[in-house]
Formats: sequence, C-alpha cells, structure tokens
Amino acid sequence: MMKQKDIVYINGSFLPRSDAKVSVEDRGFVFGDGVYEVLRAINGRFFATQFHNERLERSLEGIRITLEPEDSPSRFVDIGRQLLRENGLLQGEATVYMQVTRGASTRAHYFPPAGTQPTVYISVARFTPHTDLAATGAAAITHPDLRWGRCDLKTLNLLPNVLASQVAKEQGVFEAMLVRDGVVTEGARTNFFGVVDGALRTHPSDTHILPGITRSVVRELANGLKIELDENPIKVEEIPRLSELFLTGTTTDVMPVVRLDHKLVADGKPGALTRRLQCALADSLASGGD
Ligand code: PDD
Repeated sequence: MMKQKDIVYINGSFLPRSDAKVSVEDRGFVFGDGVYEVLRAINGRFFATQFHNERLERSLEGIRITLEPEDSPSRFVDIGRQLLRENGLLQGEATVYMQVTRGASTRAHYFPPAGTQPTVYISVARFTPHTDLAATGAAAITHPDLRWGRCDLKTLNLLPNVLASQVAKEQGVFEAMLVRDGVVTEGARTNFFGVVDGALRTHPSDTHILPGITRSVVRELANGLKIELDENPIKVEEIPRLSELFLTGTTTDVMPVVRLDHKLVADGKPGALTRRLQCALADSLASGGD
C-alpha cells in the first residue's frame, strides 16, 4: 500500500512532517506561550470556520501576540484547505490543527524583543468520529479543575487538562468533568451540558470555560428546537438529580454521558434531549460548512 503523504505547514513552508523543525528556544516549547485551534473538515468543507477564526483572533489578542498583516486566521484556513488537498484528505473526515507561538528567543519570562516572528504551525489528520460510543453513551469522572483564570483563551498551557485526561484514561473513561468551587465548569477537552429537574443547563460563557464552538452551535440548535437552555452551572450537589448529561466538542460532537464516577446517570441510557440535539448537530455537520 502506498504510504499516505504527511505534509505540514511551518512558518511559510509546506514540508514533510519529518522535515518540519522548530527551535528549542521556541516559546511554545519553553513556556507553552501560544494558542491553538482545532477545526473539523468533512469532505473538504470546514465546519463553523467563522467562529473558529474569531476565537483564534480573540486568543491571540488575549495573550498579546500580533501576527504579520499577511498572516491571519482566514489565511490559515486556506492553508488548511491546501494541506487537505496535499494529504489526500478532501474526502471523508479530517481535523485541522493550527498553532501560533510567540516565536523563538533566548529564554526570559517577559516578551521577546519586538520583531520576533511568531511560529505558525498547521497540520491535518484523518479523523474517525466516535460513532459507536455516541450511540450507547460514554463514561466520565469528576476531577478538580486546577486551571488558571483565563480558560476562555485557547492556549497551549494544557497541563491541568492533560493530567485530568490521564486520570480519566487510567479509569477507563472517556472524559474528565472538571469541578471548580462546587460547580461543573467543562471537560478536559469538551463542554458539558446536563438536565436537572427538566431544565437543560450549562456553565455560562465566562473566563472559567472555553467558549466551545460546538457549544455555540448546540445552543443555536436548541433555540431552533425550542429547547430552553439555562446558562446556570450544574452544582456538584445536583449531580445525583441529573436525568441527562452530555458533552460537546469539535472531535466529540454531542456525546451522551451515561456513567459518571462509575455510577449510572439516570437509567444509564442517552436521554431524549441529548438525542434530539445529537441528531440536529449531525444534520448540521452533514449539510453545513464552507
Ligand atoms: N478541545 N473545552 C476545552 C477545554 C477544550 O479544549 C475544547 C476543545 C472544548 C470544546 O470546544 P470546541 O467545541 O470548540 O471544540 C471545550 C479541542 C478539540 C482540543 O483541544 O483538541
């Protein structure tokens, strides 16, 4: 079988992944000083591009990285499209990863000298949706949310997410549901929604969560389906009263959660509201995109 091409973009060049290099002094490597995005592509069409571009602009602004005028999130989307083409991923499902760091410079905590070029890295990968798990529902655990105060920025500083994800993996579950000050914030790589006493709830979009693109799309879909969404976080003490629980994300879609901390959520089956939103998102993914 012919080996799949593996071309990535790094600082203006399209190269085989093994030839793509960054400096050991790159601020992303040394400090996690950068931001990223993950987009979904279906048959060469990107989903919710505008939302992703806006969030990347916001993340860059939030950590004070300025790109050259010729570099912009919308240009990165064009590069992503070219990478899909180069890597034979224009058919089927793929993800695009975009990362911008503050560039390479001698280590010092404050910003590097003016004129230091940000490092831009973009790559694509084949993606297989979690179709079987989405049908039966996944398991999750609760885990303390140990992150900083600007979780609304999509930064490379993912250590608390990495540690929580590893605990989830070691316990054989799909996701860690993070808890801060007695409320569910979000997942290590997803946003959480739950139904308590018949009301669909999720954490409000503030500095304690990432404003997920799938979260926004699901919010619009709920609105269209006349399902009320209360942006009032689920409290830990309300967990036993959950009748439905699901998570959302670019690489998870709407994923029912049927076991939490090794106990069933309600009857252990995906709930009715979850199913409706799951179908609505699937339709939107199949028909949407640009
Ligand atoms: N993660 N919350 C966190 C902490 C996330 O890292 C993500 C996305 C989400 C969901 O956001 P969206 O719907 O925009 O994907 C919520 C990506 C996929 C990742 O880190 O790979």
